[in-house]
Amino acid sequence: MLKLVIRRSYGRPVCVVGWLVPEPAWSGRTTGRMIDDEWRTRKEVVKMTAREEKAKCEEDLFCGVNRPKDPDNMTDLEKKHIPVITAPTSVKKGECFEVTVEVGKLLAHPNETGHFIQFVELYLDDTYLARMDFTAKTTCPTMKACVALDHAHGKLRAFERCNLHGTWVGEAPIEVTG
Ligand SMILES: [Fe+2]
Repeated sequence: MLKLVIRRSYGRPVCVVGWLVPEPAWSGRTTGRMIDDEWRTRKEVVKMTAREEKAKCEEDLFCGVNRPKDPDNMTDLEKKHIPVITAPTSVKKGECFEVTVEVGKLLAHPNETGHFIQFVELYLDDTYLARMDFTAKTTCPTMKACVALDHAHGKLRAFERCNLHGTWVGEAPIEVTG
C-alpha cells in the first residue's frame, strides 16, 4: 500500500512517501513506530554501505590519486609508481629552470605493451604547467620541462598514470624569490 504520511521534524511538517506493509491489529504496533523502525534500519544500511564503499575505494588503485602510505617505508608498488621530481627548491622570479619528472627512478617500472606509463603531468599546486604522453616500449617515462614562475603557492606536483595501477602523485617544495 502506498501511503502519504505527514510528520513533524524540528517543528516543520515533512512528507514521507513509502510502501507500508500493514501489520495485524494484534501486533500492538502503531504506524508511526513502523516508520521509525524502517528509517532506523535504512540509516544503518546507508552507514554500512558508506563504510564498505570507503574500504573498497581504499583498495581500488583506480579510485582517486595514489600516494605512499608511509613515505619512509614504501612498498615496491609505490616505488615503481611515485613520480620523482628533480627541480631547484628556490628559483628567481621569471627565470627559466628545468624540472625533471621520472617514473621508476626508485624502482624500475615495466615498459611493455600491456603495462606502461601513459602520461605525466606537472602542476604548481593546482596550476597546470606541462604534460607528456608516452608509448609503450619506445618512450621512457621521463619528462623534462622548462618553467618560469612569477610566484608560487604550494608545491610542484607531478601526476603519472599507469594503465594497470592508476594515477599516482609526487611532490617537491619550491619557492620563488626576487
Ligand atoms: Fe604499473
